[in-house]
This record gives sequence, C-alpha cells and structure tokens, in this order.
Amino acid sequence: MTQAQLESYISEHEGRFLEDLKEWLRIPSISTLPEHAGDIRRAAEYAAEQLQRTGFEQVQVISTKGHPLVYGEWLKAPGKPTVLIYGHYDVQPVDPLELWESPPFEPTIRGDNLYCRGACDDKGQTMLVFKALESLMAVDGKLPVNVRVLIEGEEEAGGESIEAYVKSYPERLKCDAAFICDTHMPSKEIPALITGLRGIIYTEIEVRGAKRDLHSGSYGGVAPNPFHTLAVIITGLKDAQGHIHIPGLYDKIRPASEVEEKFWRDDPLHMNEALLEEMGVSEFTGEAEYTPLERTWGRPTLEVHGIVGGFTGEGAKTVIPAVARAKISLRLPADLKSDEVFALFERRVMELAPAGVKVSVRKVHGGEAVIVPVDAEPMQAAAAALKETYGKDPIFIREGGSIPIAALFYNLLGVPVVMMGFGLPDDNLHAPNEKYSLSQFFKGIRTVSRFLQKMAKLP
Ligand code: BES
Ligand code: MN
Ligand code: MN
Repeated sequence: MTQAQLESYISEHEGRFLEDLKEWLRIPSISTLPEHAGDIRRAAEYAAEQLQRTGFEQVQVISTKGHPLVYGEWLKAPGKPTVLIYGHYDVQPVDPLELWESPPFEPTIRGDNLYCRGACDDKGQTMLVFKALESLMAVDGKLPVNVRVLIEGEEEAGGESIEAYVKSYPERLKCDAAFICDTHMPSKEIPALITGLRGIIYTEIEVRGAKRDLHSGSYGGVAPNPFHTLAVIITGLKDAQGHIHIPGLYDKIRPASEVEEKFWRDDPLHMNEALLEEMGVSEFTGEAEYTPLERTWGRPTLEVHGIVGGFTGEGAKTVIPAVARAKISLRLPADLKSDEVFALFERRVMELAPAGVKVSVRKVHGGEAVIVPVDAEPMQAAAAALKETYGKDPIFIREGGSIPIAALFYNLLGVPVVMMGFGLPDDNLHAPNEKYSLSQFFKGIRTVSRFLQKMAKLP
C-alpha cells in the first residue's frame, strides 16, 4: 500500500465518515441519567457494528453492572506489536438547554465545526480512530499491527465497569501499547501528545439540621441551617488564596521534571493568555505562588459543582431547610492516591462540621492520575505521525482533566500509553454548544493511520 492510495481512500470517503459520526451523535447516550439506558445500549451497538463492518473479530457488546463495554479484535499480524485502543461512547448531560444554538443531539455544521453533544468528547475522537482502521483495512486488506479495541459507556460516570473488567481479565487485553484518543491540542497549528493527567475524587456532602423545614420567623436564631454549615465547611476546605486546608494533601505530590517546570514558567506558547480568553475573565484565581499551567496540570485543586436544597423557586419563601447537599471534587496530580485523599477529605469535613447538625460524606467516584514517559517508542511513533500530518513536531504537555483508565492501563497492563487527541480548547466539552473541528477530524484519521503504520516498524 502506498501513502497515496491511503490518502485517496480517505479523501474519497470523507463524506460518509462524517455521516457515520452524525448518526452515532444523534443517539443521546448520556451515562449519568438512568432514563437514557436504552440510548446507551444503542450507541454501544452502533460502535460494535462499525467494528464488525471494518472486519474486526470477536466483536461483542459486553454487559456489565453498569453500561456495556464494546470489544473487538484483529490479531492477524504475526510478529507485529498489539495496540489496545480505548474510547468512550457516553456523553455528558446537555443542560442548560436554552444556551444551545442548535439542538444538542442534532449534529449541525457551522463553518469548520460540527456542533453536537459528544461531537468531540468522545464520539468524534473515537469515530476518527474507527475510520483510520477502516481506511487501512480497505486499502490493504489488513492492518499493519494487531489491534484490540475496548470502548466504554461509563467514562463520564466514573468508569467502574471498565475498571472491573481490566482488573478481572488483563490477559484478554494483552498488548504492547495502549492508545487513547480523548485529549486536546492547544490549537490547530500545535500538535500535542499528553504526558500526564490528573486523578479525581468526586464527593457529595450532606448536611441535615432540623427534622423538617422550619419557619424562619419562628425558629430563625435557634435552628441549625444546613446551608450555613455548608458555607463553613466549604470555606474551611479552601481559602480565598486557593490554598486547600486538608492536612496531608500536599505531602506526596511528585515533583515535575525540569523541562516541565521551565515550560510552565516561560509559557512559550502563551497558553496563559489563551486560558483567560477561553474563560472570558481578566485574571486567574488560585495559588499565586504557582504558575497557571502548574495550577491546572500539576497541583491538587478543589471545586464546588453544585449546592442543592432549600427554596430556589420564583419569589420568596421564608424557610430554613432541613437538608442541604454540595457536590465537591478534587483533582489530584500524580502520586496522590484517590482513596487516601478521600479519607483525608472526609476527616477534614467532619472536623469542620459544627455541633447540632448531621454531616455525612459520600464518594461518588474516583480515579488515579498518570504520568507517562516521553521517550517510549510508541510515543515517538505518534510524534512522527503528527509531524507528517501537521508539518511540525508535537509538544509534550500535561492536561488537567482525568481519564481514569489511562492509569489503569499504565499500571496494570504495564504498557506505554499514548494519549493523542484532536480536540481544541474551545470545543466546549461538557458545556452547551460542544463542537468538533471537521479539519481536525479528518487530520485525525490521517494521523492515526500513520501512527499505526509506524507502530508496525517498532522492533
Ligand atoms: N475527555 C475528558 C478528559 C479530558 C478533558 C482530557 C479535558 C483532557 C482535557 C473525559 O471525558 C472527562 O471528561 N473526564 C472526566 C472524568 C471523570 C468523570 C471521572 C473529567 O475529567 O471530569
Ligand atoms: Mn472524554
Ligand atoms: Mn468528558
């Protein structure tokens, strides 16, 4: 097979590649909302069908305690490395609906962008890998390397089922490298490979005061108010300077390499400016003694995502609510273990809780951070592939988000993990008007095909 043949197959079929993605995107596979369980299964079946049509074997939709996994393999390249490919077909909820400029599950093209929930994260990025596999197979009748594909439907909900699967059947996933297409590049001109992600614990704090809601005139002054308790706890956890007051939290952070330290300090690509612009704010919050890049990539952070309870309707109601809840997560750089941090967190919350209310803490989900070596051969193969498509060497950077399976592949399967994605910073992940750049989608197909070809040449 020549590169020209591959190139002309891809160019010729771009239209259908896009149609296949759109069809997948129309299925509202929201993993955190139980009413979408049927859509989740349809999205899984759609992925299985794609693999089947490409010529994969042992294609299965694997039922789990949660949402199904999709597995397929093509192992007919004796003597060649085996690449394990991961993606997720589940997406985040779409609220607030009124801020979408086109319906969240109707893929809509405006300019170079395809707008839809999941357009980038992660159906768009997973589909481009499917299409790279299809193209290689169509042009050559075979793949350059052995490939196993494992797709999950629970990533946005904590990924418990895939974790259990990988732990139970590591031998079924035997491979020489893992490839995850679920990350970003800083811009269309700056290709990137991701060397590190943060871990996460996601928690819910519940505060119970009186046995029922109370009239604030009759009881205000003597009744416990769960909202005030939450306010005390939250401000006790993190101060106005962004310092987290959880004893022991900062003790075990793995120091960054000198190259990273320098990149964070010098910010040669002006990523700080870009961050401000993306957020639409004029200054950063957080730990002033660390650079913004270190704060998002290399430091633990704590955020409140929602506070629920009491009266939030139109007008006024003078009530002291009996219950209030807060959803709070921590991002954890390498070497902070999610279980250990949860224990420290729970202890601190209890210590901050005033007398007279009942406070409980629940862990919703957790996942570990990962840092992968830059000099691993599969990483270098990916770098060479990016260079061919984009005309320049990629940068090696971390990202602040979490993909819990990355650490599991790295630690449990003991293989290099290549994190190469084609998302852009303004793709609005998890937010209204999520999009994917069409040119990135098509370049992604070309890059991933080349990456797999280069993997075949590894010793
Ligand atoms: N694809 C993202 C992770 C990501 C985000 C990588 C931004 C790089 C940049 C993934 O789908 C995601 O959203 N993960 C969750 C993990 C969680 C629900 C366990 C996250 O980071 O919040
Ligand atoms: Mn994702
Ligand atoms: Mn996501």
